[in-house]
Amino acid sequence: MSKRQMHLGAFLIAGPCAHSHALWRHPDGEAGFLDPRYYERIAVTLERGLFDFAFFADRLAMSSTYGDGHETGARFGDQDSTRLDPMLVTALMAAVTRFLGLAATRSTTYFPPYQVARAFATLDHLSKGRAGWNVVTSVNEGEARNHGLEAHLGHDARYDSADEFMDVVFRLWESWDADALVLDRENGIYADPDRVHPLRHRGPNLRCDGPLNIPRSPQGRPVIIQAGASARGKDFAARWAEVVFALQPTTSGMQRFYADLKAAVERAGRPADACRILPAVMPFVSESRAEAEEKLARHNELVHSLVGLSTMSSHMNFDFAKLPIDQPLGAVEVQGMQGMLAAVRTLDPSGELTLGEIGRRYGQSVLVPQVAGTARDVADRLEAWFGEHAADGFMISPAYLPGGFDDFIRGVVPELQRRGLFRSFYTGSTLRENLFGTASVHREASDLQGASA
Ligand SMILES: Cc1cc2nc3c(=O)[nH]c(=O)nc-3n(C[C@H](O)[C@H](O)[C@H](O)COP(=O)(O)O)c2cc1C
Repeated sequence: MSKRQMHLGAFLIAGPCAHSHALWRHPDGEAGFLDPRYYERIAVTLERGLFDFAFFADRLAMSSTYGDGHETGARFGDQDSTRLDPMLVTALMAAVTRFLGLAATRSTTYFPPYQVARAFATLDHLSKGRAGWNVVTSVNEGEARNHGLEAHLGHDARYDSADEFMDVVFRLWESWDADALVLDRENGIYADPDRVHPLRHRGPNLRCDGPLNIPRSPQGRPVIIQAGASARGKDFAARWAEVVFALQPTTSGMQRFYADLKAAVERAGRPADACRILPAVMPFVSESRAEAEEKLARHNELVHSLVGLSTMSSHMNFDFAKLPIDQPLGAVEVQGMQGMLAAVRTLDPSGELTLGEIGRRYGQSVLVPQVAGTARDVADRLEAWFGEHAADGFMISPAYLPGGFDDFIRGVVPELQRRGLFRSFYTGSTLRENLFGTASVHREASDLQGASA
């Protein structure tokens, strides 16, 4: 029985920030997020570090919640001030890599299922089986108003329609049997039409005839990633997700989330390890602990509390400019990311932090734990969380780019390998193979028929 090993994802946004809002102005980095070479450099580095995948978060609007306008987010460069389309950036990265998984975010609320199925089937073909999809329901009014709506759908309603959405895209990806493509060039037979299946889906929210106009992709479908943290969000993840990206500021929060979700996965009729849970971590690695802590302090000084509040307002779909910045948060309720408000509360159980202080922390790492130390220190921390059933691996969040992963790959990866906790070479050629050891997945025809009832 081989030793349990960690999985590593790299958290990215195709813009000035990641979880770090200091990223674009960090002296050790570059503001290169509009340059293709920047993403190629990051991709090649992550593959050299044997990462499972690069992950791109996304949002479909500039921040316009804080102060009911885009000014603060634009002035300070918050998470939503610029985001290139991650589908195109991952395709660029596919061209310069062979093993690195490529995960992009697409919304089930603001994209038609046919478009989503087509984009990920294309990425999976172009990357020879390395596509991943971060399934989101989107979070705020700004996104709704950019897509012809006055208001954003309610929290649970978003998940209800997302369940139907998943059923439709899965059936679209399976609308070509694995052996439907014939390519008999001599006799001019392209495919076997009996092995290509229309859907004719008529559901409470969606209608889609299909079939998809793309043959079955190498993985059958992209690896499904999700990040909901609320009760409804976890139920959704338990049913569909193969990877869950968690954001928990404390070890106890990580362990609770891990236990809850694994139990929910089993209640949904799947084996617990069919879903890998990867909490986010922001490492600061240096030759000495003091030097690493100095790096962390220098990074955090660069962050203004208003840029954090702008992103926090966008995430939670709540205008925090309405509250006094020098007072504690108090008892607010939000319609956006309820899981993130809960995370703020775990960070500040006594409720003493002022809104300004919370904004600053939010801008520093969006509550992602910041771990500073030597390569051994950081490996110790990751090994502890991995051993304490808080994680199956980690989403590594950079403090600057494109070089922000270099220190981690130079120091921590070899340390984890030395301990037998991380791969020394890629064993598979597809993302799912590297995550689970299985090449592709598809549901039996019998599953297909049952689904639309
Ligand atoms: C770690 C993490 C990453 C997320 N990434 C995105 C994203 O890239 N785009 C997006 O629209 N929503 C993103 N979300 C929001 C979730 O997809 C989900 O809509 C939101 O967390 C609300 O769900 P919840 O109330 O179940 O937590 C993220 C949430 C978390 C916790």
